Amino acid sequence: MPVDKDTMIEAIDVNKEYRRAGAIIRALGDINLTIKSGEFVLVQGPTGCGKSTLLNVLSGIDLPDSGKIIFDGENIARAQEARLSKLRRQKIGFVFQDFNLIPTLTAIENIEALLWPTVLREKEIENRAIAALRDVNLLERKDHYPVQMSGGEKQRCGLARAIIHRPRVILADEPTGNLDPESEKQVMDLLKKINKDMETTIIVVTHRGSLSSYASKIIKMDKGVITNIQK
Ligand SMILES: Nc1ncnc2c1ncn2[C@@H]1O[C@H](COP(=O)(O)OP(=O)(O)O)[C@@H](O)[C@H]1O
Ligand SMILES: [Mg+2]
Repeated sequence: MPVDKDTMIEAIDVNKEYRRAGAIIRALGDINLTIKSGEFVLVQGPTGCGKSTLLNVLSGIDLPDSGKIIFDGENIARAQEARLSKLRRQKIGFVFQDFNLIPTLTAIENIEALLWPTVLREKEIENRAIAALRDVNLLERKDHYPVQMSGGEKQRCGLARAIIHRPRVILADEPTGNLDPESEKQVMDLLKKINKDMETTIIVVTHRGSLSSYASKIIKMDKGVITNIQK
């Protein structure tokens, strides 16, 4: 089968169940979707509908029970962990609801840490981190620790960390879930700018309907299945 160069991620007949206290939970049921390079995708749906599970299988953090995940031309549904972690390191930037910054490192150190271990020289690492901080309008917080930053600043630091290795894809799971409306807008605007300027494919999970205007595609989920894909 010829590979469509524009296709970044494809899920084919993907299923995943969890077993809990004797019950079987269908987290993903027959998921089929295609995400093209450069798209800005929103995944929406109520809590527990499978959004995080979907992101986890798309990025090889979790493996599906059946089906294929074609990531940049490679089926990762049965890949070994060593291969998956290399793929994540090289091709994916992650953004988290609770930021996941290391409290004992400053903003710039948090960003630089993502590159280690690396063959890059110290000066090059610093230059890249400074450029990333500038991209998210956070250069003046460079030497601040997470505890000294607001939620919005912490998430902008998280965005800088997500782009430092120039990934093909950014996956953001509820990136604005802990932010006030103004910080939410700043973070979403920055994601849009990264999407445009760097042609990074962006997938944002949210249970809020209000962010629809940012998306080139909206995937709606309910109870583990896709109920609607809207362009
Ligand atoms: N590790 C797990 N073990 C058992 N059940 C899980 C696990 N992770 C998720 N689930 C269940 O799978 C369903 C989907 O969860 P999740 O993908 O986290 O949904 P969402 O991100 O949309 O809130 C939920 O019913 C959740 O309780
Ligand atoms: Mg979730």
